[in-house]
Amino acid sequence: MGKTIIISNRLPVQLEISNGTINAIPSVGGLATGMKSVHSDGDSLWIGWSGLVEEDISEELEPKIDQALAEHGSSKVQLTKEDIDGFYYGFSNRTIWPLFHYFMEYTEFEWDSWESYQAVNQKFADAIVEKADPDDTIWVHDYQLMLVPQLVREQLPDISIGFFLHIPFPSYEIFRTLPWRKEILEGLLGSDLIGFHTYDYERHFLSSVRRLLGLEVSFNDIYYEDRMVEVDSFPMGIDYKKFSETAAKHANRKEEELSELQKRLNLHKNLSPDAKFLLSIDRLDYTKGIAKRLNAFEYFLNKYPQYKEKVRLIILAVPSRSNVPQYQLLKREVDELVGRINGEFATVNWTPIWYFYRSMPFENLIDLYTTCDIAWLTPIRDGMNLVAKEYIATRTDRSGVLILSEMAGSANEMNEALLINPNNFEEIADTLDRAINMPLEEQKSRNAVLQKRLERYNVENWAKDFMGSLTEQGQKEKSYVAR
Ligand code: ADP
Ligand code: G6P
Repeated sequence: MGKTIIISNRLPVQLEISNGTINAIPSVGGLATGMKSVHSDGDSLWIGWSGLVEEDISEELEPKIDQALAEHGSSKVQLTKEDIDGFYYGFSNRTIWPLFHYFMEYTEFEWDSWESYQAVNQKFADAIVEKADPDDTIWVHDYQLMLVPQLVREQLPDISIGFFLHIPFPSYEIFRTLPWRKEILEGLLGSDLIGFHTYDYERHFLSSVRRLLGLEVSFNDIYYEDRMVEVDSFPMGIDYKKFSETAAKHANRKEEELSELQKRLNLHKNLSPDAKFLLSIDRLDYTKGIAKRLNAFEYFLNKYPQYKEKVRLIILAVPSRSNVPQYQLLKREVDELVGRINGEFATVNWTPIWYFYRSMPFENLIDLYTTCDIAWLTPIRDGMNLVAKEYIATRTDRSGVLILSEMAGSANEMNEALLINPNNFEEIADTLDRAINMPLEEQKSRNAVLQKRLERYNVENWAKDFMGSLTEQGQKEKSYVAR
């Protein structure tokens, strides 16, 4: 049994150079946080982009960079500034990301960025081929690298390749608008196994394969050239133990061990013990519905004025893709909304919204999860949403209410949460009212079921499940080819 090569655009850490020193900063986002736990457990190599562009890497720095990455079991693919503009900010985040999240109006179809996407996918494929032994398993991740399976297959026809998509796969009617739809499908079909978070995404993919490529599909097997490709759904889990154990540890801290953030949170809790803290945590992304959530909060305060001075919304937004115009516009919109709502409702004793625009260390995330009475997550479209799962895992006393958009992949497995349509402000306001008044016993019984499920299908079991299916598929394919 060889090693596993994980390949994704983002590595578990991102490198930054400041005054000639290399700093490794943990990457944010579901893919990196989830795969990190899987990677640290086993015999794997992770290949991806270091966060630095070739132009910034001198001959003298290069060995230090390689060393810094090696400490995280990683190896880099060198990308130029032009690659990042065309492949990352261009095709990945101005074409595929909005299209696959049903934001047609944000989707750009640019030939130059498509060319860059192809060239960079080739770079990733070459990096794999350089490091791979014949008995290795290749696990390709996400929408930035959808051509990689086919490009690797061309050079290593017999190697085992799995692909997992961390974002939704859209319905055929949306996907068919893409000028390079066939090339993307063929790129993916270089894999032996293609995984999605939900059965719906899987179904959409199979429908596109059938209708655009005219291929024979039997149940979830696709017959392609002389191979058989399997498609299945694997809802990604979290490192449950890490979240629940850290939360339990936090609950037993002495006063002097508390973080500054926790002290400040406690201070406000003590000032008004019956006040409720609402929490939302996301990357600052238009798919996450942050602006809509703020508008819905304003609607709620007007509909239920009795909660003025009684609720506080904490919004933690991590900066993301700030070179893409839609993200810059969103930043401005959120800044303005927070300012306007705080201006409209604040009193001398109360600021309704606390807004943090930054990444936070893990320990502070746990402080927020464990202190806030309600997690309120309203993505307009989200492949999975791991934050919802992380919140539940940290509620060791089983108190807390999760309000979750039904448009998040995780809503499929979290029926005990209060599910809402992020576009329905009336429903949201009433659900907030319900969450604020939910009896503790009800909170506990809902969270007990959720926790049991999340603990069982954690990220480790998710990865095992995927890799197990990939191995089985290899056997099935061998007997298919032998026929
Ligand atoms: P996405 O992958 O679209 O960003 P997810 O909810 O699936 O959304 O995953 C987000 C991950 O990033 C979670 O593991 C969460 O803990 C982490 N995260 C989100 N916001 C922050 C932040 N401000 N600081 C640090 N980590 C964050
Ligand atoms: C989502 C995507 C990941 C991506 C992450 C952060 O989780 O599925 O592939 O890494 O967002 O986005 P970024 O553009 O910063 O890598």
